[in-house]
Amino acid sequence: MSILFESKNRIFKLDTQDTTYVIQINPYNRICHLYYGAKISEFENLFQIYNFKNFSTPPSTTGELNSVSHDQLMQEYSGANTGDFRSTAIAIQTTNGAYAADYRYTSYKITNDTPSLTSLPCAFRADNPEVQTLEIHSIDPSTQTECILYYTVFPECNTIVRSVKLKNNGLKPVIIQKIFSAQLDLPDHHYDFINFFGSWGRERHPDRTPLHHGSQNVASLRGSSSHQNNPAIILAQPTTTETRGDAYGFVLAYSSNFIANVECDQSNSSRVLLGINPEMFAWNLTPGEEFETPQAFLTFSNQGLGQMSRNFHDFMRNHWISPRWSAVERPILINNWEATTFHFDAEKILNIAKSAAKLGIEMFVLDDGWFGHRDDDKSSLGDWFVYSKKISDMGKLVEQINALGLKFGLWFEPEMISEDSELYKTHPDWVLEIPGRKRSICRTQYMLDMSREDVIEYLFNSMAALLKNINIEYVKWDMNRNLTEVFSKILPANQQGEIFHRNVLGVYQLYSRLLQELPDLLIEGCASGGGRFDAGILRYSPQIWCSDDSDAIERLEIQGGTSFFYPPSSMGAHVSACPNHQTFRKCPFQTRGDVAFAGTFGYELDPGILSEDEQNQIKQQIKNYHQYHDLVANGDYFRLTNIFEHPNLEAWQFVRKDKSESIATVILRRNHPAHSPFILKLQGLNPKTLYAITTPSETIKLYGDTLMNAGIVLYDLPTYDHASLVLLLKKCK
Ligand code: DGJ
Repeated sequence: MSILFESKNRIFKLDTQDTTYVIQINPYNRICHLYYGAKISEFENLFQIYNFKNFSTPPSTTGELNSVSHDQLMQEYSGANTGDFRSTAIAIQTTNGAYAADYRYTSYKITNDTPSLTSLPCAFRADNPEVQTLEIHSIDPSTQTECILYYTVFPECNTIVRSVKLKNNGLKPVIIQKIFSAQLDLPDHHYDFINFFGSWGRERHPDRTPLHHGSQNVASLRGSSSHQNNPAIILAQPTTTETRGDAYGFVLAYSSNFIANVECDQSNSSRVLLGINPEMFAWNLTPGEEFETPQAFLTFSNQGLGQMSRNFHDFMRNHWISPRWSAVERPILINNWEATTFHFDAEKILNIAKSAAKLGIEMFVLDDGWFGHRDDDKSSLGDWFVYSKKISDMGKLVEQINALGLKFGLWFEPEMISEDSELYKTHPDWVLEIPGRKRSICRTQYMLDMSREDVIEYLFNSMAALLKNINIEYVKWDMNRNLTEVFSKILPANQQGEIFHRNVLGVYQLYSRLLQELPDLLIEGCASGGGRFDAGILRYSPQIWCSDDSDAIERLEIQGGTSFFYPPSSMGAHVSACPNHQTFRKCPFQTRGDVAFAGTFGYELDPGILSEDEQNQIKQQIKNYHQYHDLVANGDYFRLTNIFEHPNLEAWQFVRKDKSESIATVILRRNHPAHSPFILKLQGLNPKTLYAITTPSETIKLYGDTLMNAGIVLYDLPTYDHASLVLLLKKCK
């Protein structure tokens, strides 16, 4: 049993393999937080440890004692404007204009299932009998709105998934001004705030700063989770490393405006709030209606950041990413974007496909420019019919590509519309814009109002028409601008605060409908590279293009940063042309392959113009991909170097779950003359197992404890800039 209820003290104890989470209902029916951290057995007396430090005189409507100040109590989901002066998780506005929320416990339910959200992505049980859900019900008496907190415990991956449902059981409408997915109150503040920031081509670089008094947050108001901030944060002790110390991880499964806020208060406690960004959000909840929040994933490890990441990787691979693809070997693809951009025709495409087929590549992906009359980025978005000047017969081209032994994939940017398009001529009203205000243009395109059912219907029909009639087995779903002038022409004034959220619900709905119709379709998410790399999209797209920056050295931070939350098997990573299109850097072909190998793996170049040596390397890389796919996609991932310090040596390792096999990759960013030999300490091996380690020049045998504690000298690492080295480890019989 992963969830226990102790009725005398009204305590809930949620256990995963290595963690415990404790909640208590206090005498005033407030839902209090008692503990989250490493596993403990005792819990009945925890309230004596934590809720002792109240010293201010608290406002109270229920005669609560000073010793339980609402303002200093650790709570599970605190309401606004009733005496908790910190940032709170929920605020409701009633018909008389008042803002308040004071939810008191009414009942609970424990089920052996996962909650199913109606319009948002949600985790699944995967037949694991240990997965359980706790529902805590509470009521705000003055509005008669009911707030249900959900906690689903996934014991084997040390993850708790939280979300909230608000039901209007009253007789009057209310406006939800904010409604977070999760609140976590921690009794201390000695943490570093770790977040992943960036820009186009530079996504998810790590930042680590000590928590200070007041609030610290990362957020998006771009209508996507964004290149700039990822909806995921970590709180770690200042001394926490990859292998030691406490780390709390938080991920929000949401692809639009979010905020992850940590407030350190007068009592030196820390409050984490994670959810839909309340800015430009207001949701009308009429009597009888319900609102559900996105899910948030929480994990804890006292063995450092590495184990925290592995908890999330296991959770996402087992209970989040579609089982149709999660553990499955994905086709090695070649994408024509960097080879041709908009300048191609059927003959050019077929030639690239022919040279790819000779090398063993398995799927050809036709990127932007195949539809409407699109010769550049100025037209045709929304016109999802084939551009006959470039491709006279798409069905025939796909058949020819299939005949070469390659699958076929196609690029779409469903959420967008160009002014120069057939769609715009018939439906100018479908554009997101505010009447009477100039609308912003970006990459010569506008955003469709995805909150409209007729827009979703049109997109579904036009995409499905192609996908069902032609053998298209993969879709690259792009999104190349942020949302501005967000206003829907068909909703009344008092519902305009719903449009950002309704937009992303429309996106999720379109994904779901396409996948229901075409369950074997592989969709790769993308947003100008990695502008929407989040768990929301990952529920539909088992892989997401990590960044438009495909330079192997730049990818060290991008993929390394992404790996803190998301499994390598979800990271779109390709070997691309040299010099690199974004950085103009020249990286050895082997290094480009070794870095892409730590992702979904594919190519972004014209193989026909490569040297014979490079073509032979492709053949070998493909052989390696097949041989080691299971280890990379389904094994444990270890960051061997400290990404926060940008070391000259970057290394990571995959270890098979049974510890019988491993691959370690080392990249030398810049060669320095006369340096002493590098020593690499491995991780995750069985200390008592003898491993055969194969390097390019030799095979040696060492025990796991030697490799992890003493390390191995990297004599074989070549001494030039951007060199790479792969070590293969196999348990000796
Ligand atoms: C942005 C994507 O990230 C690229 O890979 C490519 O598909 C272009 N869009 C096409 O416009």
